[in-house]
Amino acid sequence: MSVLARAENVTKVYPVGQVKVPALRGVSLEIADGEFVALVGASGSGKSTLLHILAALTQPTSGRVFLGEAEYGMLSDGGRTAMRRRSIGIIFQRFNLLPTLDARGNIEIAREISGVPAEPEYFNRLAGLLGIGERLGHRPSQLSGGEQQRVAIARALIHRPKLLLADEPTGNLDSKNSQAVLDLLQRLNRDFGQTTFMITHNVEAAAIAHRVLHMRDGLLVDA
Ligand SMILES: Nc1ncnc2c1ncn2[C@@H]1O[C@H](COP(=O)(O)OP(=O)(O)O)[C@@H](O)[C@H]1O
Ligand SMILES: [Mg+2]
Repeated sequence: MSVLARAENVTKVYPVGQVKVPALRGVSLEIADGEFVALVGASGSGKSTLLHILAALTQPTSGRVFLGEAEYGMLSDGGRTAMRRRSIGIIFQRFNLLPTLDARGNIEIAREISGVPAEPEYFNRLAGLLGIGERLGHRPSQLSGGEQQRVAIARALIHRPKLLLADEPTGNLDSKNSQAVLDLLQRLNRDFGQTTFMITHNVEAAAIAHRVLHMRDGLLVDA
């Protein structure tokens, strides 16, 4: 299989006052097209920092980041934003839906920002697959946590991103809703070939990922 996403010797140092906090200390990884990769590790080990760099949300301090042949890690904010809007979908632990828009509006605004034309058939298929077809007129406050996360997954996928990134997507859900979200992510990968990189805890990761990476103190390590 071909490599979709690649990080080469990525570091990230956060300046905090006079102190420099090294969050990533030289991380290299490859994610194959169609692969489901999970990342586990203790709190503070650098998982979210790595995901944010792959997401083009954060610039690394050094190192290189590629999607296909396109290198984007060191691009300016504008260049990284363009890459993200075109090719990357992101799901967060806290859903991050806009409270004033209903579910449909939350999904559609993401599509508009990406500059992708409306595709009603794809929208309906996605909403059906995610089980939110009956909830599209509801605002986030009227939806359960599980429903909000499923809307957020639809929002992340509406522009058909090459790479889906998920940062502890079940972290705010009870076990039943967690399982439903994991089943959906697995199905999107298995049935639609969605390349996925997910931060999670060990048990979930082992159950659905093709490969589990372990992070400790800013480095990928053997389990
Ligand atoms: N914006 C930030 N400013 C300063 N330090 C940060 C910032 N984000 C993360 N860190 C620090 O970087 C390290 C890694 O954090 P993070 O990537 O969030 O780890 P994880 O997701 O594994 O919990 C931690 O020491 C954390 O305190
Ligand atoms: Mg984190």
